[in-house]
Amino acid sequence: MVVYLDHAATTPMIPEAIDAYADAMRQVGNPASIHSQGQSAKRMLEEAREVIASSLGCDPIEVVLTSGGTESINLAVKGIYWKRNADATRPVILAPGGEHHATIDTLEWLETHEGADIAWLPLDEDGVLEPAVVERALAEYGDRVSLLTLIWANNEVGTIQPVVEIAALAASAGIPLHVDAVAAYGHLPIDFAAVRRASGSTGGAGLVALSVSAHKIGGPVGIGALVISRSAQVEPLLHGGGQQRQVRSGTQDVAGAVSFAVAARAAEARLGGEAVRLAELRDRVITGILDVVPSARLNGPRGAGRLPGNAHFAFPGCEGDSLLFLLDMAGVSVSTGSACQAGIPEPSHVLRAMGRSELEARGALRVTLGHTTTAADVDALIAAIPDAYAQAARAGLSDRKTVLGS
Ligand SMILES: Cc1ncc(COP(=O)(O)O)c(C=O)c1O
Repeated sequence: MVVYLDHAATTPMIPEAIDAYADAMRQVGNPASIHSQGQSAKRMLEEAREVIASSLGCDPIEVVLTSGGTESINLAVKGIYWKRNADATRPVILAPGGEHHATIDTLEWLETHEGADIAWLPLDEDGVLEPAVVERALAEYGDRVSLLTLIWANNEVGTIQPVVEIAALAASAGIPLHVDAVAAYGHLPIDFAAVRRASGSTGGAGLVALSVSAHKIGGPVGIGALVISRSAQVEPLLHGGGQQRQVRSGTQDVAGAVSFAVAARAAEARLGGEAVRLAELRDRVITGILDVVPSARLNGPRGAGRLPGNAHFAFPGCEGDSLLFLLDMAGVSVSTGSACQAGIPEPSHVLRAMGRSELEARGALRVTLGHTTTAADVDALIAAIPDAYAQAARAGLSDRKTVLGS
């Protein structure tokens, strides 16, 4: 039996979402067609959009369906940047370190190809972006800022950001904020309109865009959404048939949307109880692992400041990837959380952004829990850790360019 503890990478589709997907795929009809099959497809699509919108606290018209989180983030960040910097007066984008690669690589692309000036904001040692840091950056860069982008909850270390406070700062500075809520969705309540209200966001200032993805909440891979407030200005990435407010052309994926909606409704229904259940299991992981390997260190905050299903550790003197492979051989699937570039394990850029040394950032291990996780899964992980760690520590650190103490 394989114990799957990598729900942040992707979580199993719930059976109802699989059934709804299969049923919807049996029906023909392009929602843009005038005939009755087209209109029936359109009805299914728009009903799905309503459910997705309700799970995000926004209006259906604000939901632009995309191929997933990566596309949503690209559309929001590039689209807002291009609109706001059309006259080249606002080249600065504010972003914290430790974002997902979908954001980092988009920003680096804008820097290389479009002359963007990225101001990377420092995180504290728990991975929190302090509002005071944002306030200082807004004061420093002022009118030259095109947008601020921020992850709601970090997919690697689980840190939850003070989104409302930061949105309020953006709102009062007149700057649009995009939030990557891919890792938060399904685990924390997300209410787009409530955050806009609470932060005083109006028009195109403050929270204007928010990215989510279906495969992180029990829906299919290949569909996600970008919530774009009515007043936000976004230059499209894709041009064609003008679907979805001209912002995202292309025939819409009715079956994907229907399945996404089923997963969204289920995730919303289980949210409160599931958060408590997962937080208990997460704390069992944390206590259990620190018990069997006292030298391991928990990364990110404890308690309410972190995602209920996330536990992330630094194991001294070994490569996170060695641990991962050894646990895999023992039948437990986990992750380091960080990217592996061309087969070479990279030290976690999130831990580096939190001020950890490269050495510490190399022994990272991420355990993420989800709707199928049981206490027996957690116990199987804890039972497998001592041997895996002993072997990984014997193998030590590979001698690729470790800069001691850096
Ligand atoms: C925080 C975060 N943002 C963006 C993404 C990318 O989403 P997708 O896999 O749907 O492209 C992920 C996926 O791991 C994520 O965790």
